[in-house]
Amino acid sequence: MTSISHTAVLGAGVIGASWTALFLASGRSVAVYDPDEGAEARVKAYVEQAWPAMSALGLTERGNPDRVTFCKTAREAAAGAGFIQENVPERLPVKHALFAEIESVLAPDAVIASSASGLTLGQMQAGWQNPGRFVLGHPFNPPHLIPLVEVMGNSRTDADAVETAEAFYAGLGKVTIRINKEVPGHVANRLQAAVWREAIHLVESGVASVGDVDTAMSAGPGLRWAAMGPTTLFGLGAGPGGLASFCDHFAGTFNGWWDDLGTPQLTAETAQRLSDGLAEATQGAPVSELSARRDAMIVAIQQALRAVEDSR
Ligand SMILES: NC(=O)c1ccc[n+]([C@@H]2O[C@H](COP(=O)([O-])OP(=O)(O)OC[C@H]3O[C@@H](n4cnc5c(N)ncnc54)[C@H](O)[C@@H]3O)[C@@H](O)[C@H]2O)c1
Repeated sequence: MTSISHTAVLGAGVIGASWTALFLASGRSVAVYDPDEGAEARVKAYVEQAWPAMSALGLTERGNPDRVTFCKTAREAAAGAGFIQENVPERLPVKHALFAEIESVLAPDAVIASSASGLTLGQMQAGWQNPGRFVLGHPFNPPHLIPLVEVMGNSRTDADAVETAEAFYAGLGKVTIRINKEVPGHVANRLQAAVWREAIHLVESGVASVGDVDTAMSAGPGLRWAAMGPTTLFGLGAGPGGLASFCDHFAGTFNGWWDDLGTPQLTAETAQRLSDGLAEATQGAPVSELSARRDAMIVAIQQALRAVEDSR
């Protein structure tokens, strides 16, 4: 655990509630600010529901779900916190107004990380007089279960702010990657977007159903990708010659496939076709049931991966 013992969460919707649960699980106190009237009840219910899964992953040994306070202003929540996770709606004026409000009350060595998925660090830095302590800390939903956090600073960021954020996240059991250059969607969302684009193209061109395309992913490459990334895996795909041999064998094949990939647009018609296909594939199971199944599987996969790592 880093020396940061008190944290703040600003904006406690889907992502902020999940971060709150994880920060509490790590033994830290959390000051939450969210203007929504129902936020306190919603966050408390979320923490309670998330606790068993975090316990199953060994994340709650030092935790106490009651060490959360709900503040009337963002300034009140941010003051005195060593690490602040910002999760307000993905709209630049909302983020800028929040940063302007809290900047003067931040502890000098506090780090503030934004969960923003689409806005870039540079766009958000414009809301600060001095953005030195401000970094990108982009999680994957739900942050209390998925290890990845994409961290980014740039020439306007204090060098130790990025390192402090990485150490803080590592102490929560997260796995961080460093983003070196601003691009919309950072890294992981671009990878998802590339795969989903082709999944939609395959459905639209009648190659396979929504359910079968999803199964092709979860029963095939998705399972391998939970273990290792695509370049590492292809390095294992052509025997002892490794990646060089794989590229030598398959350059023509991949270049041909890339030339043939689709470029669909997510129109209303396409969204309807996908929704209909999904309802058929999942036999109309409600979102809550599918979410619970997803979370149980994510926990089980991580437990299995950990057992393999521990036995090495
Ligand atoms: N949903 C995802 O899958 C996901 C994944 C990673 C990152 N993110 C990012 O996390 C951020 C939040 O997304 P979300 O999905 O949790 O949104 P959300 O709409 O579920 O939650 C936003 C919360 O912020 C509150 N809020 C509004 N104005 C506020 C203010 N001025 N100060 C404090 N709180 C305020 C709202 O009441 C709401 O509870 C966005 O930047 C988004 O890009 C989302």
